[in-house]
Order: sequence, then C-alpha cells, then structure tokens
Amino acid sequence: MNTVQGGWWANAVGYEVYLPSFCDGNGDGWGDLPGLIGKLDYLEWLGVDLLWVTPFYVSPMHDNGYDIADYYNVDARFGTLDDIKQLLTQAHARGIRVIGDLVVNHTSDEHPWFQMSRISRNNPYRDYYLWRHGQADDRPPNNWVATFGGPAWTYDPATGEWYAHLFTPQQPDLDWSNPKVADEVEAIMRFWLDQGLDGFRVDTAHYLAKDLSLSDNPRLPDDRVRVIGGAVADWYKYDHRHDIGQPALRDIHRRWRMLADDYNAFLIGETHIVDPAVLADYLADNGLHSYFYFGLIQSEVESGQTEGDLLRAAIASSSNLSWTQSNHDWARAASRYGAERALALTTLTIGLPGTLFLYQGDELGLVNGTVPAEHVQDPLVLRGGNYQHNRDVSRTPMPWRPGPGLGFTTAPHAWLPFGGRDPVDTVAVQAKNSHSMLHAHRRLLRLRRSLPDLRGATLVWIDAPEGVTAYRRGNTVVAANLGPTTAQLNLPGSWRVHYSTLDPDRSVPGTIAPHEALIQTQFTS
Ligand code: GLC
Repeated sequence: MNTVQGGWWANAVGYEVYLPSFCDGNGDGWGDLPGLIGKLDYLEWLGVDLLWVTPFYVSPMHDNGYDIADYYNVDARFGTLDDIKQLLTQAHARGIRVIGDLVVNHTSDEHPWFQMSRISRNNPYRDYYLWRHGQADDRPPNNWVATFGGPAWTYDPATGEWYAHLFTPQQPDLDWSNPKVADEVEAIMRFWLDQGLDGFRVDTAHYLAKDLSLSDNPRLPDDRVRVIGGAVADWYKYDHRHDIGQPALRDIHRRWRMLADDYNAFLIGETHIVDPAVLADYLADNGLHSYFYFGLIQSEVESGQTEGDLLRAAIASSSNLSWTQSNHDWARAASRYGAERALALTTLTIGLPGTLFLYQGDELGLVNGTVPAEHVQDPLVLRGGNYQHNRDVSRTPMPWRPGPGLGFTTAPHAWLPFGGRDPVDTVAVQAKNSHSMLHAHRRLLRLRRSLPDLRGATLVWIDAPEGVTAYRRGNTVVAANLGPTTAQLNLPGSWRVHYSTLDPDRSVPGTIAPHEALIQTQFTS
C-alpha cells in the first residue's frame, strides 16, 4: 500500500496561526497573510517547524472562515493568492512548513454549489447536499441536533425540503456519499498542494459521512449526559451514532492519505474523540497521518490520575498522535492549568513520539482575553446566549508589544477586542526578560533539536515518585511534577539538568517542585 509512515512531520513542533488574530499587515483590524509573513522571523527565532494556518479562503465569516464560499481563492480580508505564494516561499526558506485547513464537512450557504442546489429539486447540484422531506411541514426529517445548538435541519420554502447542517444553518453539510463531492474535494486538495502547501489540518475529520438511513440518534440516559451550558448542551444529550463517526469515513481518510503521500504532505485530523484507542484504530487503518489527541483539552482527569496518566495511555495506543493543550476553539491552556503547569505539560509532550502543536500565544503563557458581551462574535455564543463555552476568549489579538493596537494593528479597533492584555503579556516585553515564558518555550524548542535522544531513542516510562511523571529516551530523561508537593527524583548515575521550566540556570538534579518539569541527561564517561 502506498502510504508513508513517520515522515518529516514526526516529532515536528507545530504552531497554530489563528489568522484573523495573528498580525494585521494592512491596518484594517483583521490579521492577514502579509502580517503573518512579517512575523516569520519571530517564528523561526522561536524554533517552530510547522505552521497550521486557519482558513484563508473566501468566506462570509459566519464562523470566522470555517464557512467557505470559494475554496480556490483567498478572502480579501486575508490577502491574495500571491500572498500565499510569498508565505510559502518565505516560510520554506526558513525551514518552516505550512499546512492549511481543509473544511469540507460543510460549505458556506453562499458557496455556488449550495446556491445552485437550493434552486430546484432537480438541479444538478442538489445531491451535493443532504436535502430531505420533513416528517411533516413543520417537523425536520429526524431528531439530529447541530453542534452549535438547535435542530441540524433548516427548512427551505423555495423547494419545500430541509437541508442538513451539523453546525450553523449557514454551513450546509456536503453529502459525502456523492462521488462528485469526493472528486471536487480531491481537486481542491491538489490545487493547494500544487501551490506548495505542505498538507492540511482536517476540520471535524470525524463528521463528513452520515448514516444515510438518517435514523434518529438515541438519547443518552441522564447519568451519561455531559452537563455543559449554552448552545452545545443539546449536542451532549445524544449518542451520535448516526450523524458522525461513520464507517464510510475510513474510505475518505484513506483516499486523502494516498493523495497526500504522493506530495509528501501531512494530514492531521481534528476530532473530538478523546479515547486514544479509537484514534489509534483510525491510524492503523491507513487513515490520516496523525490525529490531535485532545485529552489535555477536553478530558476531566479522574481522581487519583494525573495528566501524565492520560499521556501514558495515549502513547500506549499509538506513536502517531499529535499533542496540544489549546486551540482557537477552547479556553486557553494557561487559564485551565495555570501557565507553569501548562509549560510543564508541554515539556512532557515535547519528548513524546508525535507532533506537538502550540497555539499562538501559548508561548507567552497567555490566559483568556476579556471579551465584553456586546462584542462577542462567536456563533456558538450568539446562537446560545450563554458564555460558558465562549471561543472568543482564546481568539483575541496576539499581543506583540505594549500600547494601542498591541502591535497587532494600526487600526483603533480590531475585529475582536484586544482582550485586556498587560505589557508583561507581550512578545516585546517577554523577549527582553530571559526568565519569561517566551524564553522558556524558546529554550525548550531549541533543546529538542539539540538532544537527539529526545526524538530518536526508545521511550521507557520511569517508576517515579508519587505525582511525578517521567520517561527516559536513551541518555535523556524528561520528568514533570504534576502533584501538589515537592518530590525527589533520584536516578542511578550522574546527571545534568539542561532545562527546568522554573529556573533557567538550574543544572543540578534532585528535587522537582510542583508544576516543575526537567530535562536532564546522563554523563556517559
Ligand atoms: C472546527 C473548527 C471550529 C469550527 C468548526 C466548524 O471544530 O475548529 O472553529 O467552528 O469546526 O467548522
């Protein structure tokens, strides 16, 4: 079978650029491609190998670009096709690869395919989408709910039928059982890979195919419902056995994998599956090259467990998972864990087989930005009127330097509020302080490159004291204290500490403070 295992992406450090909020090059308050190009020196200085750039395609922005109206063009807010070419040339010249976002569970309702499909029941594009009769005029075809709240069906009076959308009504779902849809998406992928893109992060990779019986999803018994407020509450009330996670997904992933392998490109899937065994099964089936492991984002650690236990279980399932603690859809890691613990977890994951991803601002230890209710843009909140799961808090502009506009924009306002950042949160201030989170992350990323065992040697978990998670790879040991009290890590032989998350000058091994992580190597002579 024509598949590549463990290519250039294995052990890379990725960095998510949330384009609307990274850097505004033309002063209109939106982050854009020229702004990003202007920050490539920074990203090279930081030491990342791979950028995932969120959608830059033409979009009416009902879901910040995750609703695409033209897959072959760049939205004017973000720049031009020429800017993409510049980005790729300049990133590649610095040894940084770039992947885009493949958003093909749904299109925008302004995409010409959908515009055509809604004209009449026999339009040639009708079967690109899931149009169905209702159970009655005012009752949708089944009980499916949208991830962002409300029914997953919208009635269109023009043709008297309903169309499916697992997100907002402005994001109609494609019908993946239609081979023409699969061919269109393959053409889109080839177009961007031919431009020089190094792969894709696959949006909602476990959605796509539906059970075409369109059976109702069973309701979960009350004791299995995850209690969560806001628009997403309804989603968690169902066993999603008919709308997502379908067997037909496997063929779609396999086909994409073969295509990507021809280009030596990388495909990484976003799923909300936190059971690593399920992800490992997708991987083993010649699925995408990697899937994000969201255990450090979504899972509640059970009593007696630590995040280290979650990681051990994940590694036991597969060595091709990708590690991350935050992205543009969730509260920031430093708000959930505290900045020190988040850095300790990053340190733990940096030596694990698989690709590590930072989200822009993680390297600064940024907590959630403040977004006053009247400025919220997130459709999840606008549809549910509840702030419990407000994604805007992780999307406020990147703070580059103190002062108006934060160095993000020269405009008086950005598309989202600036988030209430302090000078100490900014890149400029942290760059001047060798004890800052920024320097701690930079040192870590550089160390990863200079200690080959950290990437190449066999990984063995160490029987460490209570609260400490530790592993050894060749002559290198990575240890993090995730417990509440100081611990002692005594290993036979002589060791030198190369990296402590708390003390840049430390070289002597021994104690580990709560939330501290260490990387140390053994003297061999
Ligand atoms: C993914 C994206 C999210 C978007 C959703 C619908 O989960 O990360 O931002 O809203 O898909 O496309």
